[in-house]
Amino acid sequence: MEKQKLLYEGKAKKVYTTQDPKLLIVAYKDDATAFNGQKKGTIQGKGAINNRMTNLLMSRLEREGIPTHLVEELSARETLVKKVSIVPLEVIVRNIAAGSFSKRYGVEEGLVFNAPTLEFSYKNDALGDPLLNDDHAVALGLASREELALIRKYALVVNEVLGRIWADCGVTLVDFKVEFGRLGDGTIVLADEISPDTCRLWDAKTKEKLDKDRFRRDLGGVEEAYVRVMERLTNGL
Ligand code: TMP
Ligand code: ASP
Repeated sequence: MEKQKLLYEGKAKKVYTTQDPKLLIVAYKDDATAFNGQKKGTIQGKGAINNRMTNLLMSRLEREGIPTHLVEELSARETLVKKVSIVPLEVIVRNIAAGSFSKRYGVEEGLVFNAPTLEFSYKNDALGDPLLNDDHAVALGLASREELALIRKYALVVNEVLGRIWADCGVTLVDFKVEFGRLGDGTIVLADEISPDTCRLWDAKTKEKLDKDRFRRDLGGVEEAYVRVMERLTNGL
């Protein structure tokens, strides 16, 4: 399958059409942004790592019964995926307090929850991705109640499966963001990416951050963290 025309360019990926109207090619970039695009930079080698990691994790999730948009990896940075229309919700699951949760509710990073929390943000850069509840999502016509229930169910299974995979690699899955899309017939599938850009991953022993927080917070060692966490995954699988 070959790239035809650029359909969309996001902050971290480009999406191309193909000869098949039901399939798209995603190309991962090394560009990194944070704080709704206010901070910009490059993480050398990130595109290839995020492509590989997303595909490894989505294949595992497929085997555990989660439908995804993945078709096949085409090259180091490119993957063939099913065309979806993205449900404009950022679905965030947290196991440990960090980031915006800690800030919003005034709790220290590292507080371990008894059970995972799930929240939705409205995927809308102009509004700064505001937090919203099910009623708001339905009122705005972003998804139906049935779709929201399915998305919640899938997101919690994703958390269980990914939590286990990372634990086996000596890494703690603190939190993550996923996105879902609708196929032509309305079927909900997991889409977008699962990578150190979209997950908080801490070394289980030292609690060292092995994800994009190193870039967001200017902690240094950004490229090294992506390489190391990818090595952990491939050695652990
Ligand atoms: P938060 O604590 O900043 O709300 O982030 C929660 C999780 O979502 C974290 O793993 C990083 C991820 N995330 C994204 O993937 N994209 C985003 O735009 C933001 C703000 C967070
Ligand atoms: N990618 C997001 C942005 O640039 C934010 C983040 O991941 O922190 O807005």
